[in-house]
Order: sequence, then structure tokens, then C-alpha cells
Amino acid sequence: MEKKVLVIDCCIRKEKSATAKLLASYLEKHCAQCTIEKLKLYEMDLRPMLLEDLEKRDSLLLASRYDDPYFTLARQFRDADMVVFAAPFWDMSFPSLLKVYVEHICASGITFSSSAEGGLQGLCRAEKFVYISTCGGYQKGENEGARYIRALGKNLLGVKETEEFIIDGLDVDPTQRESRLQAEIRRLMA
Ligand SMILES: Cc1cc2nc3c(=O)[nH]c(=O)nc-3n(C[C@H](O)[C@H](O)[C@H](O)COP(=O)(O)O)c2cc1C
Repeated sequence: MEKKVLVIDCCIRKEKSATAKLLASYLEKHCAQCTIEKLKLYEMDLRPMLLEDLEKRDSLLLASRYDDPYFTLARQFRDADMVVFAAPFWDMSFPSLLKVYVEHICASGITFSSSAEGGLQGLCRAEKFVYISTCGGYQKGENEGARYIRALGKNLLGVKETEEFIIDGLDVDPTQRESRLQAEIRRLMA
């Protein structure tokens, strides 16, 4: 059976996005034989979790109504064989829209379970996450966006591995942005 790959596209600048170009190359090279489901977060009208959302979610979970449409995104995420996140580096991590999406997929009883003692067990089926990003400057140490997604997989959702494809320094010389991007894409996808 073909591998089911869920792509979380948070490339807000759409066709102008360097991250979107890196994502396209990754999918062409690594996912040609896969079934791809792509979520364009910037077209989804996702809203952050406010009190009424929290209350609705908690009452559904309390009643074990995991099949409710409210949890469609969470079930889709849980059932993917692999999840590819694509998001530019913004303000030391990624656009807030991606965090809003994460709020929609983290649901106790669907993507993870928690015991009375406070222990957590991930319920997601993905063999790995892939984190794709581009960044204007050069990051000292680990990319904070990638670090968060890795921790989310490892510590909450049960996905032990996160593979990264990150291109740094794209805004250092704007005249070289596109040529540097293309050269780095060739190197990463060789
Ligand atoms: C709102 C915003 C915030 C950004 N924050 C950072 C930052 O904190 N550090 C950095 O090095 N570059 C930052 N950048 C530059 C982007 O990381 C860089 O241009 C990246 O290649 C954009 O990816 P995209 O073409 O896929 O949108 C920021 C850009 C935007 C628009």
C-alpha cells in the first residue's frame, strides 16, 4: 500500500515562498510514490483555541466523542504514515498559524493519551516527521522551530524521529537569495 504523507504547508508567502520551493523539491525526490494529502494552513481559517473552543473540546473528549467533526484534523494527523511540516523561520521559530494548527491536532484520546499519574503516550502512527524551513539569517545552535516540532513528536505524539531540511542565511545578500536557494536545494536533494 502507498505511504500516506500528510503535508502541513505553512508557507504563507505561497508561490513566492522559498520554503515552498524547498518543500516541492523534497516531495518530488522523496515522496513520488506516496499518497499526498496537503493542508494549506493559510487557506483554512483556523482559529486559536479560545475559551469556548476549549470548553467544546473538553466536553467532547469527556464524552469520548472522538468521531466528532471537531476532531477531523486530529484523526487525519494520527493516521498519517509520515508528516511533513513546511514553515519559514519567523521571529525565532515559525508563523503562529502553525502553532494554531498544533492546537487543533493535540487531543487526549486521539493523538496522545494521558494516565492519571501524569504519564503521556503518543498515539500517532507516523514513522517520522520531516521539518522543512528557510531562514533569513544564520541560527546559532538548533533551529527553534525544528526543536519544537521534534519535542512535540518525541514527548507528546509518539513520533521519535524528526528529519530536518533547513536553508539558513537567505536574506544575508538579497541579490543572491534565489541563486543561493537553488544551490542549497540541489545540495540537500542530491
Ligand atoms: C514575519 C517575518 C519574521 C521573520 N523572522 C526572522 C527571524 O527571526 N530570523 C531570521 O533570521 N529571519 C527571519 N525572517 C526572514 C525569513 O526567515 C526568510 O526570509 C525566509 O526565507 C522566508 O521564507 P519564505 O520565503 O518561505 O517565506 C522573517 C521573515 C518574516 C516575513
